[in-house]
Amino acid sequence: MCGIVGYIGPREAYPIIINGLKRLEYRGYDSAGLVLSTGSEFELVKTKGKVSDLEEKSASLDKTPHIGIGHTRWATHGVPNDVNSHPHMSNNNEIVLVHNGIIENYESIKQLLIGKGFVFYSDTDTEVLVNFIQYIQSENNLSLTDAVRVALNEVIGAYAIAVLDKKDPDHIVVGRLGSPLAIGIGDNEFFIASDASPFIEFTKDAVYLDDGEMATISLGKEVDVRKIQDNVSVIPDIQELQLNIEAIEKGGYEHFMLKEINEQPRSIRDTMRGRLLVEEGVIKMAGIWDHQEKFLNAKRIIIVACGTSYHAGLVGEYMIEDFARIPVEVEYASEFRYRNPIIKKGDVVIAISQSGETADTLAALKLAKEKGAFIFGINNVVGSSIARMTDAGAYTHAGPEIGVASTKAFTAQLTILALIAMKLGKHNGELSTEKFHYLTRELDHIPELVEKILQNCEGVIDRIAEKYKDNKNAIYLGRGYNYPSALEGALKLKEISYIHAEGYPAAEMKHGPIALLDENMPVIVIATKKGYYEKVVSNVQEIKSRSAKVIAIVNEGDEQVTALADDFVVIPETAEEFSPILAAIPLQLFSYWVAVKLNKNVDQPRNLAKSVTVE
Ligand code: F6R
Repeated sequence: MCGIVGYIGPREAYPIIINGLKRLEYRGYDSAGLVLSTGSEFELVKTKGKVSDLEEKSASLDKTPHIGIGHTRWATHGVPNDVNSHPHMSNNNEIVLVHNGIIENYESIKQLLIGKGFVFYSDTDTEVLVNFIQYIQSENNLSLTDAVRVALNEVIGAYAIAVLDKKDPDHIVVGRLGSPLAIGIGDNEFFIASDASPFIEFTKDAVYLDDGEMATISLGKEVDVRKIQDNVSVIPDIQELQLNIEAIEKGGYEHFMLKEINEQPRSIRDTMRGRLLVEEGVIKMAGIWDHQEKFLNAKRIIIVACGTSYHAGLVGEYMIEDFARIPVEVEYASEFRYRNPIIKKGDVVIAISQSGETADTLAALKLAKEKGAFIFGINNVVGSSIARMTDAGAYTHAGPEIGVASTKAFTAQLTILALIAMKLGKHNGELSTEKFHYLTRELDHIPELVEKILQNCEGVIDRIAEKYKDNKNAIYLGRGYNYPSALEGALKLKEISYIHAEGYPAAEMKHGPIALLDENMPVIVIATKKGYYEKVVSNVQEIKSRSAKVIAIVNEGDEQVTALADDFVVIPETAEEFSPILAAIPLQLFSYWVAVKLNKNVDQPRNLAKSVTVE
């Protein structure tokens, strides 16, 4: 939530900041702002709206300065408007700050500052922080770095910040706790950003600050990293970035979401690459292998995640219990962390997160770690906070996911979970050799089948979306492995088209939702051949007798459901356990096309952000 970016060096800072903010817009897009430092003055522009609005508003700005910071906002404290937008300036107009996160004790600090005569113009916690830094600096006659450090020691909450001081114009001071911050190191120039995408074309060398660290970035000097708590110096760990520029561009597609849906044959293949060795009958996963006794002796595996990643976890539960017969519980991370869960030494906790930054998932993991669990991460973003906190893990190699609605990360998560479940089942002997080999072959074919769906669905789903786009509600039904698919389909539709949608296990329909059925209710039914097909046919009949419309996802050669359904999409057959990977594709495309036809902002749906770093 919120993206921050900054530059100091010989180039003009403005284009780097504007383009960087555009790349970070997935993190928040209700307002944006930037400040350039001329050395003696600050030029500050901010506005409600998108980075493109900021660009327009910056038309008359002097764009020659070489130092600046910028921000794209996802509102927490205060509605999106010009005043609440970042950067925020201190009362003496000398310190300016951008912030990603939440200052929880801002109210008490604000009262203290009001008592000292400070005036506040916005509703934000950030304006409190910048004035607090001013207050500490002037009271104690401190440098910007020291004032920031002292202030951050008083702050409770989460932050990634970048700060400039007019009195000390050749530095940017940054700090992090709970929100990500990367420093790009060029040739006598430095970049800062919430992730490395804003500076990828300028340098491949980056330092990711750890929680509780701050840095002073000055021209002509090494980056000075210190612990916020005790001012102890830290040797920065300079990493080589693996990201490339093509991966973060649209590549000719209208939207990132469509590009990412179409990338799935590749992203699933990349996630299996080097891990699934079909000929040898082996699954290689160092993260599991190195700790196999933890998994094999686990009395219980708990999966924690949010949103789409939670839905992947539900499929993971079915697979791990099926293949390895280890009990699994799946919990919303946000509930788990607050309900005093029972975690015993020897429990394994798996956190699934695309971004690796989701605050609730991070907090759930911290709790599990404190209680002695072995923690394992399934993340897409290399070096993310969750990836760094876990004892071991496996990356999904989906590549950067920029569309806010998660698509390729979901199918990559399902792929990793399948590999884990099969590996555990093979090693503890619960999965027969025959079934193991069958599953490896089926999984290996998935990218081809996804490719086929993408080719065959062109036009079909677009037409179905046109027919149903004006409905105000939708129900998604699935059974067994495809119950989580129904939840995920409904989530995708509501988040990008704003149509109210609910997912249910198909058999639950008769316990309540059936009351909603009439001719205005489309019901999307996942009716693949394996897994309770006959039961699903009966459910479809029940829906049709209430005059509701059925859109079915069926397998090739299906006769019964296609005869009953109003519309259908055909996907190939695979092992029942992997059918959610295939079912996800038409569900994603359906929500995509409905949103496009309703003229919604597909990549940046209202009120959402890609990485939810607030609880
Ligand atoms: C849905 C979506 C969200 C995320 C959720 C968790 O399309 O994107 O529901 O899945 O916020 O995010 P991660 O996986 O980054 O922890």
